[in-house]
Amino acid sequence: MVDTWGDPPPIKKIRQQIIPLAQGKVLEIGVGSGANFLHYDPERVSKLYALEPNLGMIRLAERQRRKTKLNIEFLDLPGERIPLEDASVDTVVSTFTLCTIPGIVDAIQGIARVLRPDGKLIFFELGLSPDPAVQRWQKQWEPIHHWLFQGLYLTRNIPSLIMEGGFEINQMKTGYLAQFPKSLSYCWWGTAINVPN
Ligand SMILES: C[S@@+](CC[C@H](N)C(=O)[O-])C[C@H]1O[C@@H](n2cnc3c(N)ncnc32)[C@H](O)[C@@H]1O
Repeated sequence: MVDTWGDPPPIKKIRQQIIPLAQGKVLEIGVGSGANFLHYDPERVSKLYALEPNLGMIRLAERQRRKTKLNIEFLDLPGERIPLEDASVDTVVSTFTLCTIPGIVDAIQGIARVLRPDGKLIFFELGLSPDPAVQRWQKQWEPIHHWLFQGLYLTRNIPSLIMEGGFEINQMKTGYLAQFPKSLSYCWWGTAINVPN
C-alpha cells in the first residue's frame, strides 16, 4: 500500500516520531524504497542492516541511502531468514512489513533471536480494526487487497502476534489514518521490548 500510494503526510508524520527512537546497531526488515532512512538519527545509529528481498526495491533504497550519512548494509534475504548473529542488534524496525511478510511467526521469532535482551522493536503496522463492521469488510476483501497491495494482509492483529513472540509492548498508539478508507487504515505504532525467557 505504502509503495503504491507513496509516503503520504499522515504516514510520514508517524515515521518522523518513531524512527529517531532507533539506536546502536539497527536492523530494518523490508526497507522497501528506503522511506525511513532520512528519519534515523545518524548520531545514534552506528550501523543499519537494511533487509529487503526485492532487488527492485533495493535499487530505489540505494537512492535514499545517498541522501544520508548512515552506515547502511543491504541484506537481500527474506525476513524469515535473517542472516545475523543471535543478540547482535540493539533495535529492529518494521514499518508495514509485518503486515506483508508471508511467514510472520518465523519473522518475529527471528527478530527476537537477533535482538539483544531488552532490545527494542519499533513497529508501525496496518491490520485488523477493533470495529466489527470494519472487520467484516476487511475479512471479505482481504484476498483482493492481498493481490492489489503487494501481499498485504488486512486481518492480522500485529500487537497480539508481537506479544505471542515474547515481546512486551511498552508504548503504542492506534488509530485510523485520516484520508484512507477505514478498512485500509487501522494502524498501530510504538515500541516493544525483547524480554529474555
Ligand atoms: C508495504 S512495503 C513497506 C516498505 C517500507 N518498510 C515502508 O515502510 O515504506 C513491504 C515491504 O516488505 C517487503 N517484503 C515482502 N516480503 C518480505 C519478506 N519475506 N521479508 C522481508 N521483507 C519482505 C516488500 O518487498 C516490501 O518492500
